[in-house]
Amino acid sequence: MDNKKIKRIGVLTSGGDAPGMNAAVRAVVRTAISCDMECIGIRRGWQGLINSDFMPMKGDSVNHILSRGGTILYTARSDDFMTEEGRKKAVSTCKMLGIDAIIAIGGDGTFRGALELSRLGVPVVGIPATIDNDLGCSNYTIGFDTACNTAIECIDRLRDTMQSHERCSVVEVMGRNAGFLALYVAIAAGATAVLVPERELDFQKDVVERIQNARLAGNTHFMIVVAEGVGSAFEIGARIKEELGMDPRVTVLGHIQRGGSPNARDRETATRMGYFAVKTLAEGRSNCIVGTKQGGIVDIPIEEALTMKKRLQMERYNVLEAMGNFSH
Ligand code: F6P
Repeated sequence: MDNKKIKRIGVLTSGGDAPGMNAAVRAVVRTAISCDMECIGIRRGWQGLINSDFMPMKGDSVNHILSRGGTILYTARSDDFMTEEGRKKAVSTCKMLGIDAIIAIGGDGTFRGALELSRLGVPVVGIPATIDNDLGCSNYTIGFDTACNTAIECIDRLRDTMQSHERCSVVEVMGRNAGFLALYVAIAAGATAVLVPERELDFQKDVVERIQNARLAGNTHFMIVVAEGVGSAFEIGARIKEELGMDPRVTVLGHIQRGGSPNARDRETATRMGYFAVKTLAEGRSNCIVGTKQGGIVDIPIEEALTMKKRLQMERYNVLEAMGNFSH
């Protein structure tokens, strides 16, 4: 299927959803139309491609979705797509529907699927969307900013009641194996301490002493942000109780962080990425991931993109430490 003019694009969202996925779908559909291409929506990610689960998309199919959270195309994590048989079925669906290329919106797992499909001759372009912001190939991933703001709003609410009762709050935020979301949120919410998987935990120094120092500085309530990749916030809460004799309240923010209307950054980035992905195909390039770099958008070959690592900036951890002893 390689190297021919792209006339029909299949677009799908896969893996965990992220606010702004709809904005990316809209941009893909509208840009395709402006380039005289057709667009087919594949529902439920790679599994939908296997099952031939699709919906034709016209310009008005994507009306009013720019501001909607979730994904109108639904999403899934597909075990079948991990098998050769599943992937062959997906290629057959592309042939049957006359799909010349796929634009896949999602995270790491989505792009590993994209690489496998490209190896079977289907041109693919990936758009990074995950609240975890953990992809090395793109400085920014769609959904991160909205998720941060949602988490901050929740923490601000928690702080009100923690302050009234002079309590310690332990809040678990998402991020899978990475601490990008947790560290960003902790700085923006003025947390007493943050625990991230990228930094080996020294409970005495990272938690006990930070609470003690904050107390000595006059604080009577404390906010500990825990990235889910570190472990259970309930266990951290239990250890705080044991070591400091406090009675912390534990909150797991969970999927709340994935919902809601995308904010300006996510709508704008998703729209530019969707546009760029279609233009990439129109210009004859494929098998790449589009990503943000120094304010612009670039495309990187999928294989290379999957090897790229993003480093958690520990300088930010130092920033939080410098703030921590005072009231937020
Ligand atoms: O990758 C996005 C994410 O929300 C992670 O932060 C989290 O670990 C995971 O997905 C949760 O997945 P699920 O929706 O399958 O519970």
